[in-house]
Amino acid sequence: MYKNTPLFYSSKGTGNPLVLLHGFLESSSIWDPFIDKLSEKRQVITIDLPGHGKSGNFGETHSMDLMAEAVLNILQKLEVKEVTLVGHSMGGYVSLAFCKKFLIMTKGLVLLNSTPESDNEERRKNRDRAIKILRKSKNSYINMAISNLVSVKNRELFPEELEKLKKEALSFSEEGIIAALKGMKIRTDETSTLTLYNGPKYIVAGVNDSILNFSDVEIVADKTNCIFLPLSGGHLSFIENKSELEKFMYFID
Ligand code: MLT
Repeated sequence: MYKNTPLFYSSKGTGNPLVLLHGFLESSSIWDPFIDKLSEKRQVITIDLPGHGKSGNFGETHSMDLMAEAVLNILQKLEVKEVTLVGHSMGGYVSLAFCKKFLIMTKGLVLLNSTPESDNEERRKNRDRAIKILRKSKNSYINMAISNLVSVKNRELFPEELEKLKKEALSFSEEGIIAALKGMKIRTDETSTLTLYNGPKYIVAGVNDSILNFSDVEIVADKTNCIFLPLSGGHLSFIENKSELEKFMYFID
Protein backbone atom coordinates (compact mmCIF):
# COMPACT_ATOMS: atom_id res chain seq x y z
CA MET A 1 0.00 0.00 0.00
CA TYR A 2 1.14 3.55 -0.73
CA LYS A 3 -1.04 6.54 0.15
CA ASN A 4 -3.75 4.04 1.12
CA THR A 5 -3.76 2.61 -2.39
CA PRO A 6 -2.43 -0.79 -3.54
CA LEU A 7 1.03 -0.71 -5.08
CA PHE A 8 2.11 -4.15 -6.23
CA TYR A 9 5.72 -5.32 -6.34
CA SER A 10 7.83 -8.47 -6.22
CA SER A 11 11.39 -9.12 -5.14
CA LYS A 12 13.52 -12.19 -5.76
CA GLY A 13 17.17 -13.01 -5.09
CA THR A 14 19.94 -11.24 -3.21
CA GLY A 15 22.79 -8.98 -4.31
CA ASN A 16 23.01 -5.72 -6.28
CA PRO A 17 19.38 -4.67 -6.78
CA LEU A 18 17.98 -4.40 -10.29
CA VAL A 19 14.62 -2.67 -10.71
CA LEU A 20 12.61 -3.56 -13.81
CA LEU A 21 9.93 -1.08 -14.86
CA HIS A 22 7.32 -1.94 -17.47
CA GLY A 23 5.88 0.42 -20.09
CA PHE A 24 2.45 1.87 -20.84
CA LEU A 25 -0.43 -0.68 -20.92
CA GLU A 26 1.92 -3.31 -19.48
CA SER A 27 2.57 -4.65 -16.00
CA SER A 28 5.38 -6.27 -14.06
CA SER A 29 4.30 -9.58 -15.65
CA ILE A 30 6.32 -8.71 -18.79
CA TRP A 31 9.43 -9.49 -16.73
CA ASP A 32 8.23 -12.92 -15.52
CA PRO A 33 10.24 -14.82 -18.19
CA PHE A 34 13.44 -13.02 -17.07
CA ILE A 35 13.24 -13.12 -13.27
CA ASP A 36 14.55 -16.65 -12.56
CA LYS A 37 17.71 -16.16 -14.61
CA LEU A 38 18.43 -12.58 -13.51
CA SER A 39 17.85 -13.34 -9.82
CA GLU A 40 20.51 -16.08 -9.87
CA LYS A 41 23.07 -13.44 -8.99
CA ARG A 42 21.22 -10.39 -7.71
CA GLN A 43 18.01 -9.01 -6.24
CA VAL A 44 15.41 -8.39 -8.93
CA ILE A 45 12.54 -6.05 -8.09
CA THR A 46 9.52 -5.55 -10.31
CA ILE A 47 6.73 -3.06 -9.72
CA ASP A 48 3.28 -2.45 -11.19
CA LEU A 49 3.42 1.29 -11.82
CA PRO A 50 0.39 3.38 -10.75
CA GLY A 51 -2.72 2.59 -12.78
CA HIS A 52 -1.18 -0.58 -14.21
CA GLY A 53 -1.37 -4.26 -13.28
CA LYS A 54 -2.59 -4.75 -9.73
CA SER A 55 -1.70 -1.23 -8.59
CA GLY A 56 -4.35 1.42 -8.00
CA ASN A 57 -4.78 5.01 -9.13
CA PHE A 58 -3.25 7.96 -7.35
CA GLY A 59 -4.87 10.89 -9.13
CA GLU A 60 -6.10 12.19 -12.46
CA THR A 61 -2.58 12.47 -13.83
CA HIS A 62 0.19 10.01 -13.13
CA SER A 63 3.22 12.18 -13.79
CA MET A 64 6.60 10.52 -14.24
CA ASP A 65 7.61 12.11 -10.91
CA LEU A 66 4.63 10.58 -9.13
CA MET A 67 5.54 7.18 -10.57
CA ALA A 68 9.19 7.65 -9.51
CA GLU A 69 8.03 8.42 -5.97
CA ALA A 70 6.00 5.21 -5.98
CA VAL A 71 9.19 3.35 -6.98
CA LEU A 72 11.04 5.03 -4.11
CA ASN A 73 8.33 3.91 -1.68
CA ILE A 74 8.87 0.26 -2.63
CA LEU A 75 12.64 0.59 -2.37
CA GLN A 76 12.29 2.10 1.09
CA LYS A 77 10.07 -0.82 2.13
CA LEU A 78 12.70 -3.23 0.88
CA GLU A 79 15.47 -1.18 2.54
CA VAL A 80 17.29 -0.89 -0.76
CA LYS A 81 19.76 1.99 -0.95
CA GLU A 82 21.10 1.82 -4.53
CA VAL A 83 19.62 0.43 -7.73
CA THR A 84 20.22 -0.14 -11.39
CA LEU A 85 17.00 0.64 -13.25
CA VAL A 86 15.83 -0.91 -16.50
CA GLY A 87 12.81 0.91 -17.87
CA HIS A 88 10.82 -0.17 -20.87
CA SER A 89 9.48 2.85 -22.79
CA MET A 90 7.29 4.69 -20.24
CA GLY A 91 9.28 2.81 -17.58
CA GLY A 92 12.36 4.50 -19.06
CA TYR A 93 10.74 7.92 -18.61
CA VAL A 94 10.07 6.95 -14.97
CA SER A 95 13.67 5.72 -14.53
CA LEU A 96 14.96 9.12 -15.67
CA ALA A 97 12.57 10.94 -13.34
CA PHE A 98 13.86 8.67 -10.55
CA CYS A 99 17.49 9.41 -11.50
CA LYS A 100 16.84 13.14 -11.44
CA LYS A 101 15.06 13.09 -8.06
CA PHE A 102 17.09 10.40 -6.32
CA LEU A 103 20.47 10.62 -7.97
CA ILE A 104 22.48 9.13 -5.10
CA MET A 105 20.35 5.96 -5.23
CA THR A 106 20.85 5.50 -8.98
CA LYS A 107 23.67 3.08 -9.74
CA GLY A 108 22.93 2.51 -13.42
CA LEU A 109 20.30 3.27 -16.04
CA VAL A 110 18.97 1.32 -18.99
CA LEU A 111 16.44 2.93 -21.30
CA LEU A 112 14.86 0.07 -23.17
CA ASN A 113 12.92 1.13 -26.29
CA SER A 114 12.74 4.54 -24.66
CA THR A 115 14.04 8.08 -24.95
CA PRO A 116 14.89 11.02 -22.67
CA GLU A 117 13.08 13.40 -25.04
CA SER A 118 9.66 14.82 -24.27
CA ASP A 119 6.62 14.53 -26.56
CA ASN A 120 6.63 16.79 -29.58
CA GLU A 121 3.48 18.64 -30.60
CA GLU A 122 2.23 15.77 -32.76
CA ARG A 123 2.69 13.18 -30.02
CA ARG A 124 0.89 15.44 -27.55
CA LYS A 125 -2.07 15.70 -29.93
CA ASN A 126 -2.02 11.91 -30.30
CA ARG A 127 -2.31 11.55 -26.51
CA ASP A 128 -5.54 13.63 -26.59
CA ARG A 129 -6.82 11.58 -29.51
CA ALA A 130 -6.01 8.37 -27.63
CA ILE A 131 -8.00 9.56 -24.61
CA LYS A 132 -11.03 10.26 -26.83
CA ILE A 133 -10.87 6.84 -28.50
CA LEU A 134 -10.38 5.13 -25.16
CA ARG A 135 -13.43 6.85 -23.69
CA LYS A 136 -15.51 5.63 -26.65
CA SER A 137 -14.23 2.06 -26.64
CA LYS A 138 -11.55 0.68 -24.33
CA ASN A 139 -11.54 -2.58 -26.23
CA SER A 140 -10.75 -1.13 -29.64
CA TYR A 141 -8.24 1.32 -28.20
CA ILE A 142 -6.27 -1.42 -26.44
CA ASN A 143 -6.40 -3.72 -29.46
CA MET A 144 -5.07 -1.01 -31.72
CA ALA A 145 -2.51 0.41 -29.29
CA ILE A 146 -0.93 -2.96 -28.47
CA SER A 147 -0.85 -4.22 -32.06
CA ASN A 148 0.97 -1.00 -33.01
CA LEU A 149 3.77 -1.69 -30.54
CA VAL A 150 5.13 -4.66 -32.46
CA SER A 151 6.99 -4.36 -35.73
CA VAL A 152 4.72 -5.27 -38.65
CA LYS A 153 6.96 -8.23 -39.51
CA ASN A 154 6.63 -9.70 -36.03
CA ARG A 155 2.89 -9.26 -35.51
CA GLU A 156 2.14 -12.75 -36.78
CA LEU A 157 5.07 -14.34 -34.98
CA PHE A 158 3.91 -13.58 -31.44
CA PRO A 159 0.09 -13.94 -31.41
CA GLU A 160 -0.08 -15.51 -27.93
CA GLU A 161 2.19 -12.94 -26.32
CA LEU A 162 0.18 -10.09 -27.84
CA GLU A 163 -3.12 -11.65 -26.78
CA LYS A 164 -1.79 -11.95 -23.23
CA LEU A 165 -0.75 -8.28 -23.20
CA LYS A 166 -4.14 -7.18 -24.55
CA LYS A 167 -6.07 -9.32 -22.08
CA GLU A 168 -4.11 -7.91 -19.16
CA ALA A 169 -4.38 -4.30 -20.34
CA LEU A 170 -8.16 -4.72 -20.62
CA SER A 171 -8.23 -5.33 -16.88
CA PHE A 172 -6.69 -1.91 -16.13
CA SER A 173 -9.09 0.89 -15.28
CA GLU A 174 -9.83 3.53 -17.89
CA GLU A 175 -8.83 6.24 -15.36
CA GLY A 176 -5.43 4.59 -14.83
CA ILE A 177 -4.72 4.45 -18.56
CA ILE A 178 -5.80 8.07 -19.03
CA ALA A 179 -3.68 9.17 -16.04
CA ALA A 180 -0.58 7.64 -17.69
CA LEU A 181 -1.36 9.25 -21.07
CA LYS A 182 -1.69 12.63 -19.34
CA GLY A 183 1.52 12.02 -17.38
CA MET A 184 3.50 11.12 -20.51
CA LYS A 185 2.09 14.12 -22.36
CA ILE A 186 3.38 16.60 -19.77
CA ARG A 187 6.72 14.93 -19.13
CA THR A 188 9.73 17.17 -19.44
CA ASP A 189 12.75 16.68 -21.68
CA GLU A 190 15.40 14.85 -19.65
CA THR A 191 18.19 14.83 -22.22
CA SER A 192 20.36 16.92 -19.92
CA THR A 193 19.60 14.66 -16.93
CA LEU A 194 20.86 11.72 -18.97
CA THR A 195 23.89 13.62 -20.30
CA LEU A 196 24.92 14.73 -16.82
CA TYR A 197 24.38 11.32 -15.24
CA ASN A 198 27.80 9.74 -15.06
CA GLY A 199 27.02 6.20 -13.91
CA PRO A 200 26.74 3.33 -16.39
CA LYS A 201 24.01 4.21 -18.89
CA TYR A 202 22.61 2.37 -21.87
CA ILE A 203 20.00 2.83 -24.54
CA VAL A 204 18.64 -0.36 -26.08
CA ALA A 205 16.67 0.24 -29.29
CA GLY A 206 14.61 -1.89 -31.65
CA VAL A 207 15.68 -1.39 -35.27
CA ASN A 208 12.03 -1.51 -36.40
CA ASP A 209 10.48 0.36 -33.50
CA SER A 210 7.17 1.82 -34.69
CA ILE A 211 6.79 4.14 -31.68
CA LEU A 212 10.28 5.67 -31.48
CA ASN A 213 12.32 6.35 -34.57
CA PHE A 214 15.48 4.20 -34.45
CA SER A 215 17.82 6.78 -36.04
CA ASP A 216 16.59 9.52 -33.70
CA VAL A 217 17.23 7.28 -30.69
CA GLU A 218 20.70 6.44 -31.98
CA ILE A 219 21.50 10.17 -32.23
CA VAL A 220 20.18 10.75 -28.69
CA ALA A 221 22.33 7.89 -27.37
CA ASP A 222 25.40 9.44 -28.96
CA LYS A 223 24.59 12.94 -27.72
CA THR A 224 24.04 11.73 -24.13
CA ASN A 225 27.13 9.45 -24.09
CA CYS A 226 25.09 6.29 -23.56
CA ILE A 227 26.25 2.88 -24.66
CA PHE A 228 23.95 2.04 -27.56
CA LEU A 229 22.65 -1.47 -28.17
CA PRO A 230 20.59 -2.00 -31.33
CA LEU A 231 18.35 -5.09 -31.38
CA SER A 232 16.37 -6.56 -34.24
CA GLY A 233 12.59 -6.19 -33.90
CA GLY A 234 10.34 -3.37 -32.79
CA HIS A 235 9.20 -1.62 -29.63
CA LEU A 236 8.67 -4.80 -27.60
CA SER A 237 12.25 -6.12 -27.33
CA PHE A 238 11.24 -8.22 -24.30
CA ILE A 239 9.06 -10.26 -26.66
CA GLU A 240 10.63 -9.67 -30.07
CA ASN A 241 14.23 -10.24 -29.00
CA LYS A 242 14.04 -11.97 -25.64
CA SER A 243 17.29 -13.92 -25.81
CA GLU A 244 19.53 -10.96 -26.74
CA LEU A 245 17.84 -8.79 -24.14
CA GLU A 246 18.22 -11.44 -21.46
CA LYS A 247 21.94 -11.83 -22.23
CA PHE A 248 22.41 -8.08 -22.03
CA MET A 249 20.50 -7.72 -18.76
CA TYR A 250 22.35 -10.66 -17.20
CA PHE A 251 25.68 -8.94 -17.72
CA ILE A 252 24.80 -5.35 -16.75
CA ASP A 253 27.40 -4.40 -14.11
C1 MLT B 1 5.21 2.65 -23.95
O1 MLT B 1 5.42 1.60 -24.57
O2 MLT B 1 5.44 2.75 -22.74
C2 MLT B 1 4.61 3.82 -24.69
O3 MLT B 1 4.44 3.51 -26.02
C3 MLT B 1 5.46 5.03 -24.55
C4 MLT B 1 4.87 6.24 -25.19
O4 MLT B 1 3.71 6.20 -25.64
O5 MLT B 1 5.56 7.27 -25.25
